[in-house]
Amino acid sequence: MNEKARVAVMVSGGGTNLQAILDAEKAGTIRSGEVVLVISSSSKAYALERAKLAGIDAYAVTKKKYGTLEKIEEKVVSLLQEYRIDLIVLAGFLTVLSPDFTARYPRRILNIHPSLIPSFSGDGFYGLRVHEEALKRGVKITGATVHFVNEITDGGEIIDQKAVNVLPGDTPEILQKRVMEEAEWVLLPKAVESVSQEILNLRAAL
Ligand code: GAR
Repeated sequence: MNEKARVAVMVSGGGTNLQAILDAEKAGTIRSGEVVLVISSSSKAYALERAKLAGIDAYAVTKKKYGTLEKIEEKVVSLLQEYRIDLIVLAGFLTVLSPDFTARYPRRILNIHPSLIPSFSGDGFYGLRVHEEALKRGVKITGATVHFVNEITDGGEIIDQKAVNVLPGDTPEILQKRVMEEAEWVLLPKAVESVSQEILNLRAAL
């Protein structure tokens, strides 16, 4: 039988996007890839708990323990090799990876970003901050983007986007939740399946 694409998910926080991927795997909407590794930049991330509950090996690779980005990435690369990872998914991973790291995995790192790129993206735009800025600017439509990761923050090729309405009375927290529910948790599993499928197709053609 054909082995599925082996997926690593990198996280920093609550891990709802990780959960959406795990749920899609269980539901069979992701069938070409399987999550075999979770790496967190924080030892306190609830995402680690979600990985544990799903029986997936999970590691915290923190600044506190490893000191520099270089050492962090060294450890991440060794885990990716050990687990023979085909596809890396940044699901709320809030450390900006170095150009050396991203150059190792062209079209093999996905990221979910909580806005319609290029709006509210790039260095400093992450998490709730993105929604605060969207509300400040008064946009009526926002959304989420899934894209490949390259050396430019949020600058890689766009894979898919989904628009979400901003409604009167929205707070950053309310808007964040709507963008997650309506866009992120839909887009990310779908992209994981399509890129995993592409990896399997390339493998079959060899
Ligand atoms: C998500 O909204 C994700 O789009 C965002 O962090 C949140 C993580 O939530 N990522 C970025 O802002 C990346 N620039 P989660 O841990 O519950 O998946």
